[in-house]
Amino acid sequence: MRIIAISNNKGGVGKTTSTVNIAAALQIKGQKVCVIDLDHQAQATYHLGYNPKQIKKSIFHVLKGELPYDEILIDRNDMHLLPASQELKDVEFLPIPAKEFLLRDALEEMNLYDFILIDCPPSLGILTMNAMAYSMEILVPLQVQFLPFHGMYNLFEAVQVVKRRLNKKIDVTGIIGTMYNAKRAINREVIEETENRLPGKLFETMIRENVALQEAPSWGKTIFEYKPGSIGAEDYMKLTEEILERD
Ligand SMILES: Nc1ncnc2c1ncn2[C@@H]1O[C@H](COP(=O)(O)OP(=O)(O)OP(=O)(O)O)[C@@H](O)[C@H]1O
Ligand SMILES: [Mg+2]
Repeated sequence: MRIIAISNNKGGVGKTTSTVNIAAALQIKGQKVCVIDLDHQAQATYHLGYNPKQIKKSIFHVLKGELPYDEILIDRNDMHLLPASQELKDVEFLPIPAKEFLLRDALEEMNLYDFILIDCPPSLGILTMNAMAYSMEILVPLQVQFLPFHGMYNLFEAVQVVKRRLNKKIDVTGIIGTMYNAKRAINREVIEETENRLPGKLFETMIRENVALQEAPSWGKTIFEYKPGSIGAEDYMKLTEEILERD
């Protein structure tokens, strides 16, 4: 079982899009997948076709210790989802010690999957710490349109601290270049700079800019359900093959 947090403290870089579509590609490749939505914005839940406002039982109640995970589990054509709800933002105020381990402890017996993918919020707060305490791997989506290194180093430093204090097993498996456009010189600069500073981390497959990837969430569909012939589908499938190889 590979447990992977999809994380970047910067917002809007393609974390949710990547989580949902890598999960879908893995499923197409015959892997048994569970997605955990650990963001109070609940966009992965929404992207997979569920209205977060109608979710009464979410991962929040599992973290709080009120429900076992299998009571909130949604079976979506064999892809499983532990959905989020807005209450998740209250986790930091729960009067429970060692809150970093709530997810790990609650999911201790969840072992039926080949892959668990966790969509993290755009911060290094308590929810991301929960994802990192439980995961073995991190995938970092990086929007290649901006020079992003300041933010990226915060994340890589945070991973080192997590490794020392919470979870020795964790490592960054790879960086996913998102919203790529070959026509923009800045895209190539960011890629070059990333390869210089963090050699070997960037996946070869770039996720190109693609309107279909933007449209799919409002239909509650993955890119493979919404437009299987799109370049978004092509890119996420190729990327997923690389992820399978980087075991
Ligand atoms: N390759 C792409 N091409 C075009 N649009 C994209 C692409 N990837 C993501 N987007 C769009 O960019 C926006 C941000 O993407 P997404 O929600 O996946 O980012 P995020 O990192 O999860 O954001 P947040 O930090 O708010 O959780 C969304 O509107 C999404 O549809
Ligand atoms: Mg998101």
